[in-house]
Amino acid sequence: MKNQCFIELIIKIIDFFNNYIIIGYFMLKNNIELFLKHKNSKKIKNRIDLLNKFPKNSIGLELGVHLGDFSDNILQIVNPKEFHLIDSWGCIPLNKPAAYSGIYNRDLFVKKRFASSIKKNKLFIHKNYSHEALNFFQNNYFDWIYIDANHDYDFVKFDIYNWSNKIKNDGLICGHDYCWKSNGVVKAVDEFINDKNWQLIYHTVYDKFPSWILKKKI
Ligand SMILES: C[S@@+](CC[C@H](N)C(=O)[O-])C[C@H]1O[C@@H](n2cnc3c(N)ncnc32)[C@H](O)[C@@H]1O
Repeated sequence: MKNQCFIELIIKIIDFFNNYIIIGYFMLKNNIELFLKHKNSKKIKNRIDLLNKFPKNSIGLELGVHLGDFSDNILQIVNPKEFHLIDSWGCIPLNKPAAYSGIYNRDLFVKKRFASSIKKNKLFIHKNYSHEALNFFQNNYFDWIYIDANHDYDFVKFDIYNWSNKIKNDGLICGHDYCWKSNGVVKAVDEFINDKNWQLIYHTVYDKFPSWILKKKI
């Protein structure tokens, strides 16, 4: 019994270090780097606040949906008139047993979750890889796109360069994980900004994993 309490205490201390000290350190470092690199980018608290920047009555897309938690936030806050969800919902990554446990048919779960919006022709589900779904939409179609699919450099680069063509001239392209956890995202986003006529207009500061938001320079 005594040993059990001791082990629980150690676990709590490790959790505390992990959640407050280590993550806190990386969040601070990340924010300093972002500030130095993108001085003109405005700060937003978190990605829920970001959703208030999205136009109402808009056409939007979330690329990388998983179980639809953020899609649900988008539906509630943005209330888009047309909302597309794209995810391959492929095999369950072996290194993520906790997040995926018990949910093998993630696409079916999401379909059930959003059944009423699907019925109203407001939400559309595409079980496809990013590169397959590109052909489903004409250029300049979306008001905003949120990218949160494969975070490896080549994939993020492919997604930003290709999906940005699908956005209207005054639209937003955004995504998750511009941070220490995902070097591929940071590298691909920075290269895109340097290469194309887009700028980082907002970034989130209190998220463990910040979001990036780009708009075309006028
Ligand atoms: C981090 S999760 C998305 C989480 C979700 N945006 C949220 O915030 O709740 C990433 C998802 O991207 C999907 N994915 C990964 N690579 C993809 C690709 N090339 N095309 C489409 N979906 C992909 C995975 O199946 C996974 O469900």
